[in-house]
Amino acid sequence: MATTPTVSNGAKHETKPSSFVAKTTEARVSELEKLNEAALASGGPERIAKHKEGGRLTARERLDVLLDPGSFVEMDRFVTHRSQNFGMADKLTPGDGVITGYGRINGKLVYAYSQDFTVFGGSMSRTQANKILKIMDMALKNGAPVIGINDSGGARIQEGVEALAGYADIFLRNTLASGVVPQISAIMGPSAGGAVYSPSITDFIFMVKDTSYMFVTGPDVIKTVTHEDVTKEQLGGAVVHSSKSGVCHFAANDDKHCLLLIRELLNFLPANNVDDPPIVPTTDRPDRVEEALNTFIPDSAKKPYDMLELVKMTVDEGYFLEVHANFAKNIIVGFARYNGRSVGVVANQPQVLAGCLNIEASRKAARFIRFCDAFNIPIVTFVDVPGFLPGTDQEWAGIITHGAKLLYAYAEATVPKVTIVTRKNYGGAYCVMSSKHLRGDVNLAYPTAEIAVMGADGAVNIIFREAMKKAKDPIAEKAKLVADYEEKFANPYVAAELGYIDEVIEPAMTRRRIIDALEMLKNKRDTNPAKKHGNIPL
Ligand code: HXC
Repeated sequence: MATTPTVSNGAKHETKPSSFVAKTTEARVSELEKLNEAALASGGPERIAKHKEGGRLTARERLDVLLDPGSFVEMDRFVTHRSQNFGMADKLTPGDGVITGYGRINGKLVYAYSQDFTVFGGSMSRTQANKILKIMDMALKNGAPVIGINDSGGARIQEGVEALAGYADIFLRNTLASGVVPQISAIMGPSAGGAVYSPSITDFIFMVKDTSYMFVTGPDVIKTVTHEDVTKEQLGGAVVHSSKSGVCHFAANDDKHCLLLIRELLNFLPANNVDDPPIVPTTDRPDRVEEALNTFIPDSAKKPYDMLELVKMTVDEGYFLEVHANFAKNIIVGFARYNGRSVGVVANQPQVLAGCLNIEASRKAARFIRFCDAFNIPIVTFVDVPGFLPGTDQEWAGIITHGAKLLYAYAEATVPKVTIVTRKNYGGAYCVMSSKHLRGDVNLAYPTAEIAVMGADGAVNIIFREAMKKAKDPIAEKAKLVADYEEKFANPYVAAELGYIDEVIEPAMTRRRIIDALEMLKNKRDTNPAKKHGNIPL
């Protein structure tokens, strides 16, 4: 007879089905059913009811929403922990607090795990880690994305270093899988301490407002060390991480919204780094001319406009999945399609900080560009940038290093790169924003583009300082000089004469020209020198 320890969900769980020898097939099938029931009972009805307060889904319900109906195949359902400490030998729940397996999203294979908070608070045991590692290894071998649904009290306290080892093993897999298969993390409950570092290595973090939080040290420790009073939500909720820290890429309203957003994102991505992104047929004509764009850019260069609206007017069916929508709003990043093909869009937003590049914007866009480059997604860049944001804040916090990340990301990217300069394109920011010099493949400009070292006002102040001092009417003199400078440089034609801009286009033709460029670049092959890895200014 096999042992029948007490299990934490209250159901009887036999570590081995009893008396295999003399049983009929029917009896064996019924034993399997009982084992399955024990696994499906998770932490028991009370814990499940508590967990669902506030509208949260269970670990299994989450997988049901995430994956195509009926496609999930569970693995390691009967795995239990090995811990003997603190009475744990008597507390076994099949699955040990995580559900792992594979399934489909819109028909495409993905691997997924979902931590079950009702079983030991979803905490990470050695065996829980082994289950996660198993599907990560399979994802790497078979070239498919991994989606982790995190809801856990962290390292299983009863297991000590075994649990830590499990985490570290996962961090290693996350690192090795980075740039090979897309990795996505949904934070749908607590994620604290070192546990945050697995999600942070993955490509995209989703959080749920009001029910999830991430922090390295929690409110109690902070109170002890710095005497600050802060709630979990204020410290590491979805709102703070999607707007202030930039840790979180998508903040969802509830569990279902979060999981559906992940499905939406997956539709833009290839399965792995040697696959092409999916093509989604569209009824939006590739040669659609958008007349409204001919008057979209304001006459005055000082007047802002909404770059997001401009982008949406050019992409298939106006559909744009914005990433990091509430963080560093002076730059827009996200996914869209042109004639059915996925692209990553990067665009300065003149409505926020006049579209200047700062530390946050550089970090945000650089990471996005590197993701696109790793996964063969062409990059379309819309440029309206007056330069880098001036100020001691920026300089002392290292805009030099962070700005260089963006430059580096564009420079090393070998995917097709199409750039459209809509208006300002000044100074260092000209070089950075997917210029010809960083291997931009097709660089277009509107007639409203201004490509120069700096704006006319600033330029005149510097180069004609003495002349203006001597002028009889310095105001009139300055106006004349500014007009001269604008005439000479505040246009796209100097760059076009030098071949740094391939074509100056009528704005109405933007969609058509981008699609022409992407079609032309469809088979682009470019490589970087062989090396172990570069040394991006981190
Ligand atoms: C074992 C745990 C657990 C853990 C929770 N539980 N966290 N069991 N190890 N880490 C269990 C509880 O004992 C309880 O069991 C059940 O899960 C639900 O927990 P509650 O406390 O009742 O839930 P709640 O009030 O919602 O609070 C959730 C919580 C809290 C805030 C996460 O449980 C908590 O503070 N847990 C400890 C967090 C922690 O310090 N973790 C270690 C961090 S260090 P019963 O049987 O009563 O239902 C770390 C290092 C990782 O993770 C390093 C990687 C490099």
